[in-house]
Amino acid sequence: MCGIVGYLGQRDASKVLIEGLARLEYRGYDSAGVAVLNGEGLKLRRSVGRLKNLADSLKQAPLHGNMGIGHTRWATHGVPAEKNAHPHPSEDGKVAVIHNGIVENYREIKAELVAAGVKFASDTDTECIAHLVAHYYKGDLLQAAHKAVCRLHGAWALVIAHADHPDLLVVARRGSPLLIGLGEGENFVASDVTPLLPYTRRVIYIDEGQLGTISRKEAHVYDAQLREVPVKVETTTLTLDAAEKGGFEHFMLKEIHEQPVAVEATVRGRVKDGRVDLSELNLDASRVKAMRRIQLIACGTSLYSAMVGKYLLERFTSLPTEAWSASEYRYANPIIDAQTLVVAISQSGETADTLEALRLAKSKGALAVSICNVMGSSIPRMCEGTLYTRAGPEIGVASTKAYTAQLTAFELLALGLGRMLGCDIAADEARLVAGLNALPAQIKKLLEGDIVAVKRCAKRYQGVANFMYIGRHYNFPTALEGALKLKEISYIHAEGYAGGEMKHGPLALVEGTFPTIAIAPRGHTREKMLSNIQEIKARKGVVVVVATEGDAEAHELADYIIEIPACEEELSPILAVVPLQLLAYYTANQLGRDVDKPRNLAKSVTVE
Ligand code: F6R
Repeated sequence: MCGIVGYLGQRDASKVLIEGLARLEYRGYDSAGVAVLNGEGLKLRRSVGRLKNLADSLKQAPLHGNMGIGHTRWATHGVPAEKNAHPHPSEDGKVAVIHNGIVENYREIKAELVAAGVKFASDTDTECIAHLVAHYYKGDLLQAAHKAVCRLHGAWALVIAHADHPDLLVVARRGSPLLIGLGEGENFVASDVTPLLPYTRRVIYIDEGQLGTISRKEAHVYDAQLREVPVKVETTTLTLDAAEKGGFEHFMLKEIHEQPVAVEATVRGRVKDGRVDLSELNLDASRVKAMRRIQLIACGTSLYSAMVGKYLLERFTSLPTEAWSASEYRYANPIIDAQTLVVAISQSGETADTLEALRLAKSKGALAVSICNVMGSSIPRMCEGTLYTRAGPEIGVASTKAYTAQLTAFELLALGLGRMLGCDIAADEARLVAGLNALPAQIKKLLEGDIVAVKRCAKRYQGVANFMYIGRHYNFPTALEGALKLKEISYIHAEGYAGGEMKHGPLALVEGTFPTIAIAPRGHTREKMLSNIQEIKARKGVVVVVATEGDAEAHELADYIIEIPACEEELSPILAVVPLQLLAYYTANQLGRDVDKPRNLAKSVTVE
């Protein structure tokens, strides 16, 4: 979490930093700050709350200078407060540090520094880095930063400025993303590529354990022993348009509407002559054939896609497959060996729990691949191969298009692995490839047609305090995801349940005003779902049914019906989740919630 921007050039640094931070605000938004170097030294400005507060403060009393660093925070140590906002200065005010991550041993370092007479001004873990750098500084900022970094345990993306070095920023990375942007006579550093897009497409990704320096003309990268390593300049193909709202009221709504494109892009080039082609994963066929089990590791929405993935993988590879919450996996002693295929699923590629679970699996010899949306992020870098989801940048905190793109990737992965393992999948492959090709138009139709029904439904139930979502088999995870979407952006309590589990407890909740959203598209569990709906109706519950269009029986039972186009059963979670995303969106919007930035949450969860 936390967003980082640094600038060195001829422009007004405050302006570059604020614009850059605005593009990173999804990474955290409880406070923000900048440090700008001018003739009077390093000048700090920090504000609690949204970035706008900092921008307003800088408008009223500008900080001029053409070198600076900026940060938008998601609190881990110390409450959101001005003193805890970054940048953190050294005692003499000459060093300023911005940090994304956690210094796990900060108490020990703090105790040592306090004993040496240093006075701390904040409750953060980060502040100790500023004091350490000042302590080690003997005229060479890179050396001092290296010595300081060698003392740290934990995770960091760091940018360090020093008042005596007007043409230098030192950066360091371990466990949190960081990249350098190369301009003409100006250079940048940021947590992701979006702040750089108005200025440059040429980027250098800083790797795990590396440090770097940037001046206005040059960039250098060093390994953990401070030996210079050759820089690899890449050209990003991302456009600024893709990172902006494109006329929609919120990023989330824009991203829901981008799903036809995301699904299509995720399939593109991966089906050749009607067959799924996973050659981009560079997997060794004999190694794959030796696999005895598959473990999927992910968090939140990505975990729900993994739960669908489990069903698909078991169906098409016949290998026992487990879907693990990454935060549980690490502490549950899972059985991992060299015959285990681990798949990490992550939109951001930076989720700390998923990264650590992956590290654990790799340390035990597992073959690791990932499904990820962010190229060059940490998770793909640790894996043998990655099936990128190609959904484009997802800015809204609530994941939507990344989820349907992950589900699409799982269809491909399950079929592709099934083929590599010699399973008899030809007929299913033909059926599902045709279904995948039809999906973008079907999602489009759904988005155009059903919004009215969903909006009506959202209006009708926005005053309700509790919701139940139920589904079975492929659409049990859809129920979990629908409930997560509603609770995270509307703050209405919602639970997802397996339809068959209702009578084992939750049915007791049902009475006249209690709404259940039942996901019951055509497929082998539809009949059972209709029975579950009957049970709820018999107790006077209200039921909103997501059903395949033309399902007269579902129509008859439902208080509200939301129809999805007919599709292959395995693909139904991709269509069924779309109205649930919209239901959450319209409910939250009608309640006046901050849809793109729900309270207490942040987009990329880079702390455990
Ligand atoms: C919910 C949501 C989160 C993420 C989770 C994992 O809408 O977005 O639950 O899915 O934090 O994030 P990634 O996929 O980036 O690893």
